[in-house]
Amino acid sequence: MQIGVPKETVENERRVALVPSVVPLLVRSGHNVLIESQAGLSSSYSDDAYEASGALISKSTTDVYASDTILKVQAPSVEEVNILREGTTLIGVLQPLTDHQLVKALAEKNITSFSMDSVPRIARAQSMDVLSSMASIAGYRSVLIAADALPKFFPMMMTAAGTIPPAKGLVLGAGVAGLQAIATARRLGAVVSAYDVRTAVKEQVESLGATFLQVELDEESEDSGGYARELSATSQDKARHTIHNAVKEADFVITTAAIPGRPAPVLIEADMIADMKSGSVIVDIAAEGGGNCELTQPGEIVVKDKISIHGPLNLPSSLPTHASQMYSRNMINFLNHLVTESSIVVDLNDDITSGCLITHNREIVHEATVLAMGDQNVR
Ligand code: NAI
Repeated sequence: MQIGVPKETVENERRVALVPSVVPLLVRSGHNVLIESQAGLSSSYSDDAYEASGALISKSTTDVYASDTILKVQAPSVEEVNILREGTTLIGVLQPLTDHQLVKALAEKNITSFSMDSVPRIARAQSMDVLSSMASIAGYRSVLIAADALPKFFPMMMTAAGTIPPAKGLVLGAGVAGLQAIATARRLGAVVSAYDVRTAVKEQVESLGATFLQVELDEESEDSGGYARELSATSQDKARHTIHNAVKEADFVITTAAIPGRPAPVLIEADMIADMKSGSVIVDIAAEGGGNCELTQPGEIVVKDKISIHGPLNLPSSLPTHASQMYSRNMINFLNHLVTESSIVVDLNDDITSGCLITHNREIVHEATVLAMGDQNVR
């Protein structure tokens, strides 16, 4: 099987879907790996490094797209879909729940597509979990952004010029990104508290040395898949009160709260920001989904009453060497799962395969995507 890795074309995307160190694993299994020239350059992987690891390099995007299987980070553009060959397999982060045009185009072109953001969050699929890999990078980076923007130290300092207390951090949403943000902020010496609707994370938060802010809710806050549910108005009021008090005390706030397939919940309202200490910083990782802070502008830094509100986009791309390395590992594990005797076998009875198979045999086969697209799109 020929595996093609094109250069990513989305603006500010610095990752690549496969790094040189994993190429020998594919070559040893009898595959050809064709990398578009300079595909790895922005993540510090040269064409020479790919060649040394056994890959072939091509300057022609079309030739790379003529491979049997295409590995990508971002979803392909309309132009890229146009040059995909009928019958090709495409693997990438396709965001099928929201990018319906792409899903339709892939079905029409008879592309077998798998979306890595739909790999089920089950123990067996942990080594393929791109969402977790990338979320941990986002959590780490968000704290570095906060530390850089805060006009204060993070750690406690005992100096001849006096004692400086540690910075106080608040993390909203303690999933993969939030827990990594807590760990990073703690390593830098900050005192951290955290809130999540899922009280099951209390123990994890505390094991990282942070305080969990408990809100007594009268309803189930978690669905059967372990994800957060949208809360009732009463529960939201209780949470709002707790968050408001915590925000007033915080030097920096990292927000990571997301509900799959829904806009990010607004947890920090404008009146809460007005009560924050001058110079405080908010880093809103949920900016891509609209943000957890009412004043967040995706991709911008907004300064309001001396509080800076950062809405960074695509944080994993800002650490491209390790982000690509982790992504590649997830890809290889996923390919190993799919490939039998050198070719991809689509086993619809397998939870992992069927969980992230989006289009196949000219059909949109992913149940959640079909639901999100509405009945009129069911073929
Ligand atoms: P996510 O990115 O979907 O959301 C981030 C966090 O925001 C979550 O912890 C969520 O509970 C929280 N949140 C949502 N609405 C909120 C609100 N209104 N207020 C406060 N917090 C709110 O989460 P992520 O990191 O993708 O993890 C989601 C689930 O998947 C978790 O249950 C996690 O344990 C599970 N998981 C399972 C894995 C496996 O078994 N392979 C691997 C990674 C995660």
